[in-house]
Amino acid sequence: MLGPVRYAMIGGGEGAFIGPVHRTAAAIAGNCRLVAGAFSSDAQRARRSGEAIGLAAERCYASFEEMIAGERGRSDGAEFIAIVTPNHVHAPAAIAALEAGFPVLCDKPLADTLAAAESIAEAAARTGLLVGVTHTYTGYPMVRQARALVAGGGLGAVRRVAVKYTQGWLAKAEDSEGKQAEWRVDPARSGLAGAFGDIGTHAFNLVQFITGERMTRLSAEIRAAVPGRRLDDDGAAMFHLEGGGRGTLVASQICTGDANGLEISVWCEEAGLHWRQEQPNSLRVARRGKPEEIWTPGGDRNYLDPSAMAVTRLPSGHPEGYFEAFANIYRDFADSVRGNVPEQPSYASLADGLAGMRFIQAAHDSSAAGAAWVELQGDE
Ligand SMILES: NC(=O)c1ccc[n+]([C@@H]2O[C@H](COP(=O)([O-])OP(=O)(O)OC[C@H]3O[C@@H](n4cnc5c(N)ncnc54)[C@H](O)[C@@H]3O)[C@@H](O)[C@H]2O)c1
Repeated sequence: MLGPVRYAMIGGGEGAFIGPVHRTAAAIAGNCRLVAGAFSSDAQRARRSGEAIGLAAERCYASFEEMIAGERGRSDGAEFIAIVTPNHVHAPAAIAALEAGFPVLCDKPLADTLAAAESIAEAAARTGLLVGVTHTYTGYPMVRQARALVAGGGLGAVRRVAVKYTQGWLAKAEDSEGKQAEWRVDPARSGLAGAFGDIGTHAFNLVQFITGERMTRLSAEIRAAVPGRRLDDDGAAMFHLEGGGRGTLVASQICTGDANGLEISVWCEEAGLHWRQEQPNSLRVARRGKPEEIWTPGGDRNYLDPSAMAVTRLPSGHPEGYFEAFANIYRDFADSVRGNVPEQPSYASLADGLAGMRFIQAAHDSSAAGAAWVELQGDE
């Protein structure tokens, strides 16, 4: 049975944030179809959530264990499973899915702890199945153009990077109570880190994606700025890249007034590149002694790198954003599940997800040791 790639979802029930974004993105992707879900830890809400979006009642499961068993036994069962729960459920759900034969597309961070992420990697190695991670920003055309310019644009070595991911939605103690907030400030469900895991891993992934280089060491200070918080809501790190470049990374959810302030600058020997998530269709390139260039996406811009063109869906001048970036990730992952792996997939790999967990652990260890420099382990 071919047709669209069938997928099932764990998490993303009534009132959830990212599950509905994944489903919208998958619909835009056009090559996937949601066939089943275990949308909540509450059985009734799970069923209600699935039926509300038109799934057959028998495929709205009460738990992910039930869903994995049910879908495994069907000839029209899901071909991969998307995980969009709070972090502490990622590893048990991913390992159960892999052991039952399902590739996994997991939201970030890969797990709540490094040990849990390593267990996912072991299950993936045992089963030989694909695991992707939805580091959304790798699905944007101008991020991919930036990466291509650094890789082959004659800009020379990367000398300095400045990345910041600043939000203000957890600026006050009372902000800890909302549905999206309450598990993020709880070590049992968020994991080792708060803001450094939630948004710091996106910033970290973006640095490695655009520069094409591994972060090798860091010195970090992370803290709970709001009294009573048990996890970091604010922090900064200095880091080294494998090519000798240096950088700074700020991840904070107490920056009053900021919405989704992810911004990165990469200064190479011959030019600086600047990208802002809130204006994602514009990549500014500033070369020494020359007028600034503003690169923009568009299917008719055939001078863009093929990796940027591959994720551009519309003619120039038609804005594409968050949903489309996510849709690119779904399209590439679904194609990969059927064996058509794109040359440069827009989803982050399992190795990228693991690297993000090592980054969290290193930032935590460094901060606990008074911002001592800590080496980041590679894949070797
Ligand atoms: N890629 C991104 O940019 C991005 C953005 C936001 C969130 N996320 C990640 O997505 C995940 C979810 O975040 P959110 O903001 O949507 O959280 P949320 O609280 O809005 O939604 C979580 C959903 O998971 C369900 N759930 C909890 N335990 C479950 C279980 N055992 N089985 C099935 N469902 C269960 C909840 O009922 C809820 O529907 C987190 O890991 C978060 O870090 C990623």
